[in-house]
Parts: sequence; C-alpha cells; structure tokens
Amino acid sequence: MSQTYLSERVATLKPSGIRKFFDIVATMKDVISLGIGEPDFTTPDRILQAGIRSLERGQTHYTSNSGILELRKALATQLNRLYGVDYDPVSEIVITVGVSEALYLALTAILDPGDEVVVPTPCFVAYQAEITLAGGVPVEVPSRMEDNFQLSPERIEAAITPKTKAILIGYPNNPTGAVASREVLQEVASLAEKYDLVVVSDEIYDRLVYGGTHVCYAALPGVKERTLLLGGFSKDYAMTGWRIGYAAGPAAMMTGLLRVHQYTIMSAPTMAQDAALEALVSGEDYVAEMVAEYDRRRKLIVGGLNQLGLPTFEPRGAFYAFPKISVTGMDEETFAQKLLEEERVAVVPGTAFGPGGEGFVRCSYATAYEKLEEALRRLDRFMRRYG
Ligand SMILES: Cc1ncc(COP(=O)(O)O)c(C=O)c1O
Repeated sequence: MSQTYLSERVATLKPSGIRKFFDIVATMKDVISLGIGEPDFTTPDRILQAGIRSLERGQTHYTSNSGILELRKALATQLNRLYGVDYDPVSEIVITVGVSEALYLALTAILDPGDEVVVPTPCFVAYQAEITLAGGVPVEVPSRMEDNFQLSPERIEAAITPKTKAILIGYPNNPTGAVASREVLQEVASLAEKYDLVVVSDEIYDRLVYGGTHVCYAALPGVKERTLLLGGFSKDYAMTGWRIGYAAGPAAMMTGLLRVHQYTIMSAPTMAQDAALEALVSGEDYVAEMVAEYDRRRKLIVGGLNQLGLPTFEPRGAFYAFPKISVTGMDEETFAQKLLEEERVAVVPGTAFGPGGEGFVRCSYATAYEKLEEALRRLDRFMRRYG
C-alpha cells in the first residue's frame, strides 16, 4: 500500500454514512430526497438583506476573536429570555463557524489523549469523529425505541469509567426527533456532579419543538460551571450556508475554547455574524412560521409511515422521522438502497448515526409538503412489494 502520511487518528476515521449515500443520489434524476438534514427554506429575507448590507457597508474584515460584541449581547439576552440562563457576553460566549466548530472547540479544549466521552446514540454523525479527532475515545450508549429514544441515565452511568471526562448529548435529537425531559436531564446533571464530568450539550434544534417547550440543559440549577452549551443558526433560522454557531460556558472553560478558536479560525465570517444578529433581532416571526410548517409536515409523514406499517416514534423536535423498517426483512442499508433504486426516494440508513440505529432509517421532513406526499405514495408502492 502506498504511503499516505496520514495520522492514525485521521486514517482510521470512517467516511460519513450520509455523504457516501448522497454521492450516489447526486448522480440520479427525479429523486425525492428525505435525506438532507437542512431546511428547504432559504434564509428569511430580512436576515439575508442584513448580510448583504454588511458587505455593502464594507464589513469585509476580521471581527473580535469572540465575535461581534453586539451579537454576543443579543445572544445572552435571548438565552436569558428563553431559558433563564445567564452568560456574560464578554467572557462566556464565543461565536463559531457553526455548531460543527463549536463541537470541535469544546472537545479539543477539554480532552487529553485517551479521555473517554460518553455519547448516547443514535446521534449526529460528527460526534464520534470529532471526539476521536480531539484525541478522545467515544463510548457509545444506545437508546431504544421502547424508551421513546430517551437518554438512559442508568446506562450512561454504567458506561462511566475513571477515564471518562465528559458526556456529550444532543436534544432535540438528530436522527430520532426525541426531546429530553427535564427529569432525565436532571439525572444526567447528578451523574456529572457525582463523577466530576463536563456535559457538552448540543442544542442546535432548540427552537424546533412541537407541542412542548425545550428544556435547556445549561439552565438546570447548579450545572453551569461544568457545562458547555452549543447552539446555532443553521436550523432554527434556515442559515446552514452562513456557518454561524456559538459556544457558551463558564469563563474558565471558555478561555480554553477561545484559544483554540483564535489559532484555528480567528473569527467567524463577518457578514454572517451581522445576518445572525438580525435573526435574533427580528427572526421570531420566521421561526414561528417555519415551526408551524414543519409541524404540518411532521404530522403527514409520521401518520403516513405508521399507516404503511413502518412503526414510527412520534418525534417532538428537530425535523426527522425515524421509522423502524425491520418488518420488510431488510437491513437498513438494503432498504435505503432498494428504495432509492426502485422508487427514487432517498433516506439515510439508521446505522450512519451509530449503534441503536440498526433496523431504522432517517427521513427528514425539511422538504416541501407536496414532495412528502409523493414520497409516501412511492413508499406505499414499495411496501406493497416488501411489507
Ligand atoms: C445535532 C447537530 N449538531 C450540529 C450540526 C452542525 O450544524 P452547523 O451547521 O451549525 O455546523 C448538525 C447538522 O446537521 C446537527 O444535526
């Protein structure tokens, strides 16, 4: 084999199970994609215009490493208004290049080589890879449909060893759509305290909840000192391409995150920070409109999948449905492959999201209502053959 010069860490990383699949989709015509994990809406116009104005005003320079202070202040105000949590905009918030970078900063700043991170699965495809890149070891704890894909504090505790440094959670969850209850989060907080662990909480879907309210982990009493809260604009405000997110936490930890950010990124894109500020100032109506539309689609797809004989847990957050497909006798890879080839509907095999995803596929409903209707018609034909 030819020399690759790659580090062991990188050489052993698996390619994302999502990308592999979408490279195939990109070569096909007339595919309805339920695979994409991003809003089909374009960024709302007022936010878009704020980005354009920023460029026209000549805001083409670096910002402060932590990000524009006005944006950090607006974020602190919003987090306080929504969840009652207090962050000092000067020393406790860093604006990042999406939650992707915030995750990288958090893990790089807290992990020493060999430190373990307990990560409930199925979860966002980048968690395990980012832990590995930061020198850590992911310890996966599968959640189950029988438990409504809730976190299991018992199984998390069983996975904790003397090497455990952190627990990484992400609710509302990608790919299951589960939201975490206050009681369960409280139990996670007790474990973090008992074993002296950091909790990294990725709350990128915090505004996309249906028929309930989001519980912000960082706002639980007494947890702030050992918690890093990650959030962003990609999903809530349909701003994936702008690449803006944030990390918030106690000043002592944020100094470390900021150091990594300074040396790797410098500052998040300036015009995108200006657009994000506008999202916080005037984006509430848009969020409400998008949530109402996602909710309409959610009811259509979850009802439709269940009717077709694919048992589907009722998601209360994000924009994913996670049907169980084992009734077809196929594994998730075969199901996704056949569905794509025979009916031109793209879904993602559940195993792309780690253990616990066996026998499931992820269907994103961040796609137009009419397309979801057509996808269900195609799935109906498919299930008549294989159901
Ligand atoms: C749970 C979760 N966290 C983080 C991200 C990355 O988001 P960003 O666009 O802010 O980097 C995603 C994107 O799909 C996600 O689903």
